[in-house]
Amino acid sequence: MGSDQSIRSACAISNPNIAFIKYWGNRDAHLRLPSNGSISMNLEGLTTRTQVTFDPSLESDILVLNGRRLTGAAFSRVCLHLERVRHMAGINTYAQVTSENDFPTGTGIASSASAFAALTLAATAAAELHLSERELSRLARSGSGSACRSVPAGFVEWQVGEGDHDSYAFSIAPPDHWDLVDCIAVVSREHKPTSSTEGHSMADTSPLQAARLAQVPAHLDICRRAILEKDFDRLAEIVELDSNLMHAVIMTSTPPVLYWKPATIEIMGQVQSWRKSGVPACYTIDAGPNVHVICQASSAEKVFQGISEIPGVNAVLRAIPGGAARLV
Ligand code: PMV
Repeated sequence: MGSDQSIRSACAISNPNIAFIKYWGNRDAHLRLPSNGSISMNLEGLTTRTQVTFDPSLESDILVLNGRRLTGAAFSRVCLHLERVRHMAGINTYAQVTSENDFPTGTGIASSASAFAALTLAATAAAELHLSERELSRLARSGSGSACRSVPAGFVEWQVGEGDHDSYAFSIAPPDHWDLVDCIAVVSREHKPTSSTEGHSMADTSPLQAARLAQVPAHLDICRRAILEKDFDRLAEIVELDSNLMHAVIMTSTPPVLYWKPATIEIMGQVQSWRKSGVPACYTIDAGPNVHVICQASSAEKVFQGISEIPGVNAVLRAIPGGAARLV
């Protein structure tokens, strides 16, 4: 299919990101317009690498993730995103998408964020669309909300916006602004029972969501300032509070969801007691059981060792502030 018979290909890499102030709930699920703004840090050391090849000889799109050809829901979501790119570029050629993560998929280590950031960049480049960072971020958002934050570099804010045109993410500080380390305790490699897409759609069923949303603007201000001023104590307090608020909403939605495992709670307790004893560390948990322990580089070794010794922790991954999604 397609009038242009040439094969066009591009490859992009992207890092996942960890939200310090979480995105939970959409006001428009179709466009993935969030109910609230969010702030995150890209995670250098964890990488998604995605090659997109528009090939006129293909009779359908093809998705190969970590060496396995996928059909099902993940495939449909990628096809829908490719459809958006084809529409923008005015082409109708099918594509082969080959993507690899060097970290476990679907365990709360935001693989959909790096997946849709890399896919957006590779697909638009292969389709010879030359989009600005802002346009790439908006487009990535429509594939997976948090993906819009993996497009710009370093410490990133996703402004809630008024609509599709101004709901995008931008960098608030470059990766080398602050030498934070994310020690990620992998508690389970199982695929999570409730996807974040389902979770977002249930957020408003929790009686706590409205209270959480009312707090977010103030929390964004505190978090942004803590990052810009490199104030770890302030950051730690707001990051843990915000993570607990999101999980309180998740646990009180209909139907309720509990992502935590015993080891998740054990780590939360340990991190709080380390902080009381003067170690700059705090926890935050996405939609899964794994725990991100954010610390300063000077205490990363100690935190890494400490987490590794907790029963139920299968592995500890390490990441530092990461760059923007980029073509390779
Ligand atoms: O982008 P999604 O739909 O995978 O949602 C991400 C939701 C959280 O990871 C739990 C929070 C966030 O802001 O990243």
